[in-house]
Amino acid sequence: MPFNYKNNKLFCENVSVEELAKEHGTPLYIYSKNSFIEQYKKLESALAELDKMICFATKSNSNLAVIKTFAELGSGFDIVTGGELFRIAKAGGDTTKVVFSGVGKTAEEIKYAIEQDILFFNIESEVELKRINEIAGELNKKTRFCVRVNPNVDPKTHKYITTGKSENKFGLDFEAAKILYKHAENYKNVEAVGVQMHIGSQITTTEPFVTAIKKLLKLVEELRAQGVDVKYVDIGGGLGIVYKDETPPTPDEFAAAVVPELKKFNAKIIFEPGRFLVGNGGIMVAEVQYVKKTPTKEFVILNAGMNDLLRPSLYDAYHEIIPVKASDNLKKMDVVGPICESSDFFGREREMPEEIQSGDLIALKSCGAYGFVMASNYNTRPRGAEILISGNSVTIARKRETLEQLIENEI
Ligand code: LLP
Repeated sequence: MPFNYKNNKLFCENVSVEELAKEHGTPLYIYSKNSFIEQYKKLESALAELDKMICFATKSNSNLAVIKTFAELGSGFDIVTGGELFRIAKAGGDTTKVVFSGVGKTAEEIKYAIEQDILFFNIESEVELKRINEIAGELNKKTRFCVRVNPNVDPKTHKYITTGKSENKFGLDFEAAKILYKHAENYKNVEAVGVQMHIGSQITTTEPFVTAIKKLLKLVEELRAQGVDVKYVDIGGGLGIVYKDETPPTPDEFAAAVVPELKKFNAKIIFEPGRFLVGNGGIMVAEVQYVKKTPTKEFVILNAGMNDLLRPSLYDAYHEIIPVKASDNLKKMDVVGPICESSDFFGREREMPEEIQSGDLIALKSCGAYGFVMASNYNTRPRGAEILISGNSVTIARKRETLEQLIENEI
């Protein structure tokens, strides 16, 4: 576990969280580099039997130091914007190991991705393929694509992060996909190299994956019969983690369920995990501003708000909240941010130290994925720093923003 108490004080690897907060201020995101590496290696070894590539879903945590950590492990990357590709190039990642997903790729992004010679585009519609074909032609280049298909499987997760059901905007149904591969023969600057799907995020059982993979296998057989050379099968991301009391499959359990099915494809399998790799390896630290009693409740008011960590407000997501200095005497309190919105909360009726007071530090756990990347400057609140810890070593992965930076593009 990357975050542990030693003598009642919270540590990230060998570094005291309190010391980090003193030095770098709060709100503060702290990541354990070794936890990221460990998660990657666990998944890689569980899937060892497969011809495969892990493509870290950059959107989950796109800090350059995090991208570099995965690049050094030989990881590929799943991206959804030209901006993420820019980060990968800057961080020394291999852009030829990039797969580009998303329903709304712009012409500019497509051009940049072709110039960077990415592995393939996951396309969502024929108009998109047409656009990619035209741009590749203008650049005198050939590029590759997979069609993102929608297997219509319920991943049994939050409705906002469900993507593989027929009512979602993502992917094409199998019949439409087959027609598109046929039409693609007329587009001379793009080559069909496989199929892709992504059914949702924070999936905590293997069953939806297995159901979707089985459906996909039938499609791949039909596509091959139709003459499509399916070299890659990209099954997306979505493997869930523990926030509270979930029991997601371990990498070995996941592999035991999916590898026998995936072997049948006779193709290179692409995985796009985000949350699984980085989710539990990060915390957000905040300082208590006030403890406020009302006739019905007691509130712990932090100096971090929904702008710093949006998940509780947006998805009603649960993040464990722990004091940086451990305590034995606990009582139930609501933990909230300073922003004037009732959805600006982090947890209701949470066990907090009875003696908690202004100036104390608390940590929200499992903030490594979809944490800082979803932060905003709402209320003109500068975003805090991001720190990457490896053993005893402390890297400032992103400096705290200043007010001057927030207004520098304004006239
Ligand atoms: N591949 C594609 C095409 C995706 O759309 C996503 C996530 C992933 C891979 C990575 O999924 P993961 O392995 O991290 O589950 N903001 C939400 C999560 C949105 C996920 C969107 N797509 C949250 O905070 O829970």
